[in-house]
Amino acid sequence: MRYSLSLLVILSSCTYNELTPIPICESDTPSFYTCVKPIMDNHCLGCHSAASPNGDLSDYDAIRYYVINGDLLDRIQRVEGAAGFMPLGDNKLDNVQIETLIKWKNNGAPNN
Ligand code: HEC
Repeated sequence: MRYSLSLLVILSSCTYNELTPIPICESDTPSFYTCVKPIMDNHCLGCHSAASPNGDLSDYDAIRYYVINGDLLDRIQRVEGAAGFMPLGDNKLDNVQIETLIKWKNNGAPNN
């Protein structure tokens, strides 16, 4: 009886995982174009266009530069000592968005 109960728990947890795949941007390998760029476009591009003196966050090379050097991640996580919190004058990004950017960096900031 005890055995069959644990088996039931194991089997039902497998089914649960199969039926609810992790959203693509919450996977361990978020894509730049599907996950990272839309965050920049929606929350940053208004002040960070290609011509902006505040820093360009409009394309892959520019975004990669600020993510790799750590400045962008410090600012969006609002780390004490960060040069200025981003997005400036707006709410902190949510945890899923922040995690997406951290994971993308940890994977080597691929152009995918
Ligand atoms: C309302 C305007 C505004 C928004 C929105 C905004 N920023 Fe900024 N950002 C600025 C300004 C102004 C500066 C320059 C002053 C400073 O360094 O804090 C700046 C500077 C930066 C820098 C440093 C650039 C450099 O050349 O050193 C980074 C990185 C940055 N922002 C990231 C972001 C990210 C990521 C977002 C979106 C999540 C964002 N910003 C949204 C106004 C904005």
